[in-house]
Amino acid sequence: MSVVLAETMARAGQGLLGTTPPNGRAYWSARFWDRDKAERHPVLAPEFLRQRETIARYLREYGGQAATSLEFGCGTGEFTRLTALGTPVAEMTALDISAQAIEIARGKVEHANIEFVRGDFWAEHGLAPADLVVCVDAIHHLGDVRAVLRRLRSFVKPGGVFIGNLFTLDNFHEFERLRYGALEHLWRTTMFLGSAVLIRASGGRLRSGSHRTQLLPSAQGQRLLAEEFGEVLEVSADPYFTAFACRG
Ligand SMILES: C[S@@+](CC[C@H](N)C(=O)[O-])C[C@H]1O[C@@H](n2cnc3c(N)ncnc32)[C@H](O)[C@@H]1O
Repeated sequence: MSVVLAETMARAGQGLLGTTPPNGRAYWSARFWDRDKAERHPVLAPEFLRQRETIARYLREYGGQAATSLEFGCGTGEFTRLTALGTPVAEMTALDISAQAIEIARGKVEHANIEFVRGDFWAEHGLAPADLVVCVDAIHHLGDVRAVLRRLRSFVKPGGVFIGNLFTLDNFHEFERLRYGALEHLWRTTMFLGSAVLIRASGGRLRSGSHRTQLLPSAQGQRLLAEEFGEVLEVSADPYFTAFACRG
């Protein structure tokens, strides 16, 4: 019963939002996302760890020529650390909107030439395009997925590489039930529907952190990648995430 209700409310919320992009700036600025905790989840740990392994392998295999890197939504810095370890990059920049996350990342990553930027993905920070651009577990939070991919590509030097992933709609409700339990998932979906009503009724003027993710079926995400990037080098579609490496 709660399963059908949650899925119906999520569809209704999506219907109300239409193409309104997620906006979680206030939500994300006020906290940090704890990847270590996600990787210790009693049921979903293997899924998070598998994504991490896939991205780490992409960094080693496709980042081998990179001298500069730029990471967006670096969070607490696990993929920043893996970039420093797995590639020869001499100059690294990592950006996130969360001051707490940046603080943790600073303590985690060892590299002779790294700059952390606290700021919004969409703001102008004077960042130069890089040989390697990384964005993990964040594209779907940053806004409309196509627009995010297009902006990410603008930071990839010609011939450079983009490595990232998308959290997908394919088995989303199963994932959330495993992650939070059926009742909490139902509550979260109720909040999402409430936010969608608020956003729609206010013509987008009112917002809520409950609308902070744009989820697409993985096939649609892969189509967008192919359309926005010159060449898709590799894709790994897992039940809940799709990881990819692309040429700029
Ligand atoms: C799910 S976390 C992933 C963090 C990290 N990449 C990882 O995998 O551990 C999403 C990250 O995106 C960041 N974020 C969300 N919206 C942002 C924005 N508009 N500009 C910059 N960072 C943002 C959040 O603060 C958060 O650290």
